[in-house]
This record gives sequence, structure tokens and C-alpha cells, in this order.
Amino acid sequence: MKVLIVGASGVIGSAIVKALSDKHQVITASRSAGDVKVDLSSPESIHAMFDQIGQVDAIISAAGEAEIKPLDALTDLDFDRASGMQLMGQINLFRYGRNSLTPGGSVTLTSGIASQINFQGAAAIGMACAGLERFTDAASQELTDIRLNVVSPVSVTESMEKLGWPTEGTISATDTAKSYLAALNGTMNGQTLSTPEYA
Ligand SMILES: NC(=O)c1ccc[n+]([C@@H]2O[C@H](COP(=O)([O-])OP(=O)(O)OC[C@H]3O[C@@H](n4cnc5c(N)ncnc54)[C@H](OP(=O)(O)O)[C@@H]3O)[C@@H](O)[C@H]2O)c1
Repeated sequence: MKVLIVGASGVIGSAIVKALSDKHQVITASRSAGDVKVDLSSPESIHAMFDQIGQVDAIISAAGEAEIKPLDALTDLDFDRASGMQLMGQINLFRYGRNSLTPGGSVTLTSGIASQINFQGAAAIGMACAGLERFTDAASQELTDIRLNVVSPVSVTESMEKLGWPTEGTISATDTAKSYLAALNGTMNGQTLSTPEYA
């Protein structure tokens, strides 16, 4: 398969690239690295990327930049990033990319555990994650020849190590990538895949 991976340079994205590269043709993308540059916060940039790469069999997004901050510390810019990039950027990747998908293809987006559990700093990112999961459920009902799913990662071990935060209950990036493989290779549509279930 020809698989586009947006956010391919990130902790989760690079583990997905590693897991897929042996068997598939992988096209890596992000704002600053990869085979093709894209900024998901810009509709023009997403259209330009698909003009450049043409048809693909699957689209995976592991892109994100939403902040985990206490409510009083969240700025207008933080909410813009959460809603404009994390939420609408990924939704637009699906909306603009679906016409470049081969029939039977799939789109897999990324939300996160913040959609379901409360912790300090989860308000903006949780808003985006819950919106993505609800969009996926609703939009998938109208799809006939492609599939749409979203992976909801719990904390990734390498990310927590970078932050110096506790790693108990976390899942490695390699094991997190298994959920994306399940969405890519499976038959599910409209599902939110929780990473512990596939690790
Ligand atoms: N790591 C965790 O513990 C964890 C847990 C739950 C959910 N998540 C979610 O999983 C996703 C990936 O997490 P991660 O830890 O792998 O993140 P990361 O290491 O920070 O990587 C983020 C990736 O997204 C790209 N990116 C950021 N903004 C972009 C934009 N506007 N357009 C295109 N690409 C963009 C970055 O590349 P450029 O900077 O070059 O654009 C990078 O490749 C995020 O949505 C995050 O919220 C992560």
C-alpha cells in the first residue's frame, strides 16, 4: 500500500513509519520534515500536499501540538491550536484527502485519552480529542467505499520520559503504533481504538 503519514517525525509517527516501512510505500509529512511538507492548520497546504502526492491507499495522522495547561493558563492561541490544528486540521485532512484515496482505502486520525479522563490541563486538548472521536463516529456512517477511524493513545512512555513525568501505566511508541496497524489492516469503520487494547 501507498500510505501517507502526517506527523511522521513525532514520537508516535516515527514508530508508525518504522512499523510500516518494510511492507508498504510510506510517504512522510509534517511542517518541517519528511517527503512532503504540510501544515494541517492551513487548508491550502493540505490541498497542495494532495496535489503533489496524488492517489494513496491510506492516510494516517499522528500530528498534534495541543498544549496540556491548567485552565487559567490556556491562551487564545492554545485554544486556536487545539481547535484549528488538532481538531479541524485532522478533520480537513480527511475531508480534502478522501478524494485522493483508492476505493477500499482508510483514514486513521489521532485523538487521546484526554477525551475520556480528567486531569489538570486536559480542557483544550480534551475538547479536540472528544470532537475527533464524535466526528469519526458520525462521519463514518456516511462512508461507503472508504473507512475512517481514530486512535486514542494513552500516555506514551518515551513522551513521558522526555517530560520527566512518571511512566507507570504508559505504553511504548512501538506498542502504540500497533493500533494504527490494526486500523490500517482491519475492517473497522467509525471506531475509536484505545491503544492498550492493541498493545
Ligand atoms: N505522546 C503521547 O503521550 C500522547 C498521548 C495521547 C495522545 N497523543 C496525541 O498523539 C499525537 C502525536 O503525539 P506525539 O507525542 O507523537 O507528538 P510529537 O512527538 O510532538 O510529534 C508531533 C508531530 O506532528 C507534527 N505536526 C505538529 N503540528 C503540525 C501541523 N500543524 N501540521 C502538520 N504536522 C504537524 C510534528 O512535526 P512538525 O513540527 O515538523 O510539523 C510532528 O511530526 C498528538 O496529537 C498528541 O496529542 C500523544
